[in-house]
Amino acid sequence: MHATAPLLLLLAAACSLGAPRNTSFPQGFLFGASSAAYQVEGAWNTSGRGESNWDRLIHRHPECISNEATADVAADSYHKYQEDVRAAKEVGFDFYRFSISWPRIMPQGNLSLINQDGIDYYNNLINALLANNIQPVVTMFHWDLPQSLQDLGGLMNPAIVDYFEDYARLLYTTYGDRVKLWTTFNEPYEISVGLTSACEAPADLVSPGFGEYLAMHNLLKAHATAYRLYDREFRRRQGGKVGITLSAAWAVPKSQSAADLEAAERYLQFTVGWFAHPIFSQEGDYPSVMKERVARNSKAEGLRRSRLPEFGPEWVDYIKGSYDFFGLNHYTTKILSEPATATVSQISMANDMGNLVTEQDDAWPYGAATYFRYVPFGMRNILKWVSERYNGVDILITENGWCDSGELNDTMRTRFYVNYLAAVLDAIYLDNVQVIGHAAWSLIDNFEWASGYSMKFGLYYVDFNDPDRPRVPKDSSKVYASMIKNRSLPEEYLDKVEE
Ligand code: NOJ
Repeated sequence: MHATAPLLLLLAAACSLGAPRNTSFPQGFLFGASSAAYQVEGAWNTSGRGESNWDRLIHRHPECISNEATADVAADSYHKYQEDVRAAKEVGFDFYRFSISWPRIMPQGNLSLINQDGIDYYNNLINALLANNIQPVVTMFHWDLPQSLQDLGGLMNPAIVDYFEDYARLLYTTYGDRVKLWTTFNEPYEISVGLTSACEAPADLVSPGFGEYLAMHNLLKAHATAYRLYDREFRRRQGGKVGITLSAAWAVPKSQSAADLEAAERYLQFTVGWFAHPIFSQEGDYPSVMKERVARNSKAEGLRRSRLPEFGPEWVDYIKGSYDFFGLNHYTTKILSEPATATVSQISMANDMGNLVTEQDDAWPYGAATYFRYVPFGMRNILKWVSERYNGVDILITENGWCDSGELNDTMRTRFYVNYLAAVLDAIYLDNVQVIGHAAWSLIDNFEWASGYSMKFGLYYVDFNDPDRPRVPKDSSKVYASMIKNRSLPEEYLDKVEE
């Protein structure tokens, strides 16, 4: 199947009609790299850190993780953060996005106990970055929830909103003099839909069709509460920005039929609009297509109210506009179509979405995971979609990357970055999308959740069998460094666009 062909032709037409492709980065465009506490830090039970929901999952269900790997040591960044900073410096990054481990600084998840070693660790990391002219960009929550809060139901319990506010206040108070870019949650979709999988933390709360909607509801309230807190108590003094990091794959309609066009848009509304519409749209609240479909299904299931909870006007207003920028994680593209015959399955979000058919093109290259396909035009299209739907919002690409088996001669990663960044430049110059920067996922190889160490995303190689966990630059890191230095794409790695 070659659903991509018309788009490639369009792109080619756009490029060949006008001036040659602009391969220079605009002034002020920020280059960065990303990581997350649970995936790199290790030191899971030392220096006062509390247990997280992921520790609990991995230790109780080792079979969930590829090769029964753990993140107990991971890349040992808790002890080797200076080497991470050195690596980021070597590439020339403007910023480093990392996350704070909530259980490391609040072992019980609440204010009853503050762990000074944890506080110091992030102070040291932030100071080391700033000493090297690298801006810290901090994610407050990248999936590792204190187990004590998980025991209360985690994101399913509305009390999480207040606990998250306490946590956010501690972060702003402690680090806000130096941290000027914050994102509250990393990938709400994965957090909420993770609740429907037996091998994502927490493994024992599998509740498809109910749990993900409840969790997202509380998450959106928690996000807005942390944002409003910054407005009220910190913004004037600290002058930073607060956003949220949202994952979005691009969706190509399988055909130009009205049904497939609608299927692709519906897919985007359920997988992006679900959390983006309440925050970034003019109207606020969940997308109407979601409200209608979940309400209709719920009624048919004999329920008295929709499984998609209602905010009410006050929360709609409170959540709407709670952003300074849109953090985007983008990796790949899917092909969407309506099923040949309408199907009804068990209660689930997939059923609410209409059991859409999701495919990928066999011609799209893949690395260590078949679903992470190389589709640069998807980057340009998702940027355009976000910008058009959400009022030309400033977008910070908080993650984008390629996974392989960890080879040093990682030519495909180089090709990935050069051509995805070319698509970013097309979005900026041809579509007028406001992209403020791009972060590579990831600076160093790390623990890839249920895939353990079987998939590697790093610009730096880490040998997880070596107790010293040395960081070794891969070839892609050198091309990246020259790209940053020259502030333009190395033309020799650009794909030839079909004419
Ligand atoms: C998104 C997640 O934020 C990150 O934790 C993960 O490692 C990458 N995607 C790659 O799967």
